[in-house]
Amino acid sequence: MKRTLESLDGGAIEGQRALVRVDFNCPVKDGRVTDNTRVRAALPTIEFLRSRGARVVLLSHLGRPKGGPDPKYSLQPVVNELERLLGSPVAFLRDPLSEQAVTETRRLPRGGVAMAENTRFLPGEEGNDPALAARLAALGDFYVNDAFGSAHRAHASTEAVARLLKPAVSGFLMQQELHYLGDALHRPKRPFVALLGGAKISGKIDLISALLPTVDHVLLGGAMACTFFAAMGLETGKSLVEADRVELARRLLAESGTKLVLPGGAVIAQELKAGAETRTVRRDQIPEGWAVYDIDPETERDFGTKIEGAGTVVWNGPMGVFETPPFDHGTLAIAGAMAAATGNGAVTVVGGGDSAAAVAQAGLENRMTHVSTGGGASLEFLEGKTLPGVAALDDV
Ligand code: 3PG
Repeated sequence: MKRTLESLDGGAIEGQRALVRVDFNCPVKDGRVTDNTRVRAALPTIEFLRSRGARVVLLSHLGRPKGGPDPKYSLQPVVNELERLLGSPVAFLRDPLSEQAVTETRRLPRGGVAMAENTRFLPGEEGNDPALAARLAALGDFYVNDAFGSAHRAHASTEAVARLLKPAVSGFLMQQELHYLGDALHRPKRPFVALLGGAKISGKIDLISALLPTVDHVLLGGAMACTFFAAMGLETGKSLVEADRVELARRLLAESGTKLVLPGGAVIAQELKAGAETRTVRRDQIPEGWAVYDIDPETERDFGTKIEGAGTVVWNGPMGVFETPPFDHGTLAIAGAMAAATGNGAVTVVGGGDSAAAVAQAGLENRMTHVSTGGGASLEFLEGKTLPGVAALDDV
């Protein structure tokens, strides 16, 4: 168990500088944040610290800048969005390693908030450099990690700094994510159903292998089902098949018994474009020159019945190319079945990334038990891997 923010007594917070790692890696377009989910998700931690008189100093990365500062990845738009949500000013530390930045953090009023420029502009961030971590640690008096979405990265602002700046505790979002994902994995209400999709089996092998022993069913959709179809000796047309994973798919099918459930049919097209001519076929009727882009209505019903009868459902990866209608149908239907399952009393957990985007597209976020803010992080957590950003925090 990791030490939490609530475990700190008032004296450890009041007037102190809380260095808080958040994951504000949000989509930005034309200088504006287009989806502020991650910023909103960190507000409980920020507001808690402010209400207890802390000086709050935020760290985050944005995007994947290469080779130093790049205005395209500046956190300025996120600072603007945070000011709007908080209704109070946020000091922007453009050069977080300067003496001036340290002075600014000390001069913040109690309850004041500052945000450092993109941590990935700093040499040594991705190398988890202890020297950089020491410079970052100078910006705070204690450390809070609320960046679940970045917890799978061992970077200076997520890992090394937590080993230097003490106490190092988890924020509310981090706790919530670990609670829901951890309970689903270790104490699932049964039947426990995992719903996995996405393009490639190669990115999901560890997940399938980790989940198979504990789940009652793995429902498998997305293009990666085609690699399994190929393993069954079926014609897959020009569908995406990972030739070097067919043997592995064959082994997984043999080992999983009746646990692994594949789509019985598919929606196919000759080209991937909005409004393309489509056909609905059984999985053994995919013609040459056609490719699978979604699950078919019968599979929607089959998966939907299993989801609605489940005690716990964990979902990672879309069922089809949901960005391109009409191939969003299967994914949206599955999102609907998840919402119905929540209504039936099931625990429904949605991994971040594409599945979270699909749930948002369906307008059903509020009808899931938990939608994770972490894509890669939730994947690695469900694979049973240790997240370095969590491991580095203080133990209880
Ligand atoms: C994410 O969006 O998954 C996290 O912010 C991590 O970003 P990264 O994959 O660039 O490390």
